[in-house]
Amino acid sequence: MAVAAPASMTAAYQAKFARSAERYCDALKIFPSGVTHDGRFLEPFPVYVDSASGATKHSIDGPELIDFWSGHGSLLLGHSHPDIVRAVQRQMEIGTHFGACHEAEIEWGRRVIDLVPAAEKVRFTSSGTEATLMAIRVARLVTGRTKVLKFAGHFHGWHDQLTPAADPPHDDPRYPTPGLPDDVLDQLVVVSPNDFAAVEQAIATHKPACVIVEGTGGRWGVVPIRGEFFKSLRELTTATGTLFIMDEVITGFRVAPGGSQEVYGVTPDMTTLAKIVAGGLPGGCLAGRAELLDAMAFDNRYGKKMKHPGTYNANPLSAVAGIEMLRHVATGAPCRQATEAAGALRRGLNAIFRKHDSNWVAYGEFSLTHVLPNYDGPPPEGDDFVPYDGDFRLIDRPLDRKLAHAFRVACLMGGVDCMGMGMITSAAHDEGVIERSLAGFAEAVDRLMVEGMMH
Ligand SMILES: Cc1ncc(COP(=O)(O)O)c(C=O)c1O
Repeated sequence: MAVAAPASMTAAYQAKFARSAERYCDALKIFPSGVTHDGRFLEPFPVYVDSASGATKHSIDGPELIDFWSGHGSLLLGHSHPDIVRAVQRQMEIGTHFGACHEAEIEWGRRVIDLVPAAEKVRFTSSGTEATLMAIRVARLVTGRTKVLKFAGHFHGWHDQLTPAADPPHDDPRYPTPGLPDDVLDQLVVVSPNDFAAVEQAIATHKPACVIVEGTGGRWGVVPIRGEFFKSLRELTTATGTLFIMDEVITGFRVAPGGSQEVYGVTPDMTTLAKIVAGGLPGGCLAGRAELLDAMAFDNRYGKKMKHPGTYNANPLSAVAGIEMLRHVATGAPCRQATEAAGALRRGLNAIFRKHDSNWVAYGEFSLTHVLPNYDGPPPEGDDFVPYDGDFRLIDRPLDRKLAHAFRVACLMGGVDCMGMGMITSAAHDEGVIERSLAGFAEAVDRLMVEGMMH
């Protein structure tokens, strides 16, 4: 649908989502910037949602939105899958927190071990942030070393140790992270992604306890990392006695039932999981070699035990949701369906951009899609397209906040809710949903062109 009048997009958005605008005024009095997660901040205001089902969510203003947040990546089966709803409802009735060991946690843990190549033992947490915190603490205890090597642009949660260097610009040698003491940075070694020589040198110089890497590249594949690099990292870390951690909080159970470690045939020493593992409820875990996880065991081989309390570890609601989710994942079908949907989405988006003579491109892998504006590299060809042949400094640019927010607003006007400049699909994003979303994206592109925001 062509946009008839070049009325200000903001004015049209305010009119369409007027109730959300009102709610946001209330929220501003309660939360910093009116939001409860940085990623949900949107100018002039975010849309409020009161229910969701399958691939769509319902805004309090009336319109249905096709959802590409997919619960920040946790809802591989879409919203409110009946099996998960039933399991959680039943558990609500029989107890949500026993303050005791329970059978569901055993089945949940066993399913993780059955699916994930690296998993010999598991310890549940309440989030992915806690899982990566746990991973590096285990690595430090076991190796007796303190430094951690991570890659520029990779996000591993918001705790002190790994928050720096997640976002561009990546050039500042101290990666300023407000609120962090400088000595945290003394323990962090940051290397450019896909630069194997730099990793070799950094390991030789700093002798880190561990290397941590996201399962398809930083911030769910903005700069993709491929199998060869993972294989080289595996060999190098083994040779140097450095522990290798794959952070599969997003990619675990998504890109394949066993995550990207299964796809690339690379088994890390430890892996961090969250989101899908808990079936869309809060939860995460560290999984890995038994001798490493035994850092948390009483009277262990290390002669010192790592503390691990946590009120909601393996809580029964997340456990039963996770069991249902992993039961579906084990069939392989949801991962395949979500990946196919994303392929169709990327092809459709690039066709829209081409039709509009625009210099924007869509790219990505598996069920994870990114949009890059103002692209001047070789044109997209084939499903493996990576902008600028993967040159991380050209792809992973500082966010143009005005443009990013305009994109989201334009998409919402077209009935599509994007996760920043990206989209995560689920098994509920069937052909019809993708087709409808592409009509919404086409409308959004029209709007951005009319506004002069897109070229
Ligand atoms: C790769 C990765 N690691 C860790 C985290 C942190 O997980 P959580 O938000 O559950 O704390 C995220 C969150 O998006 C993530 O994408």
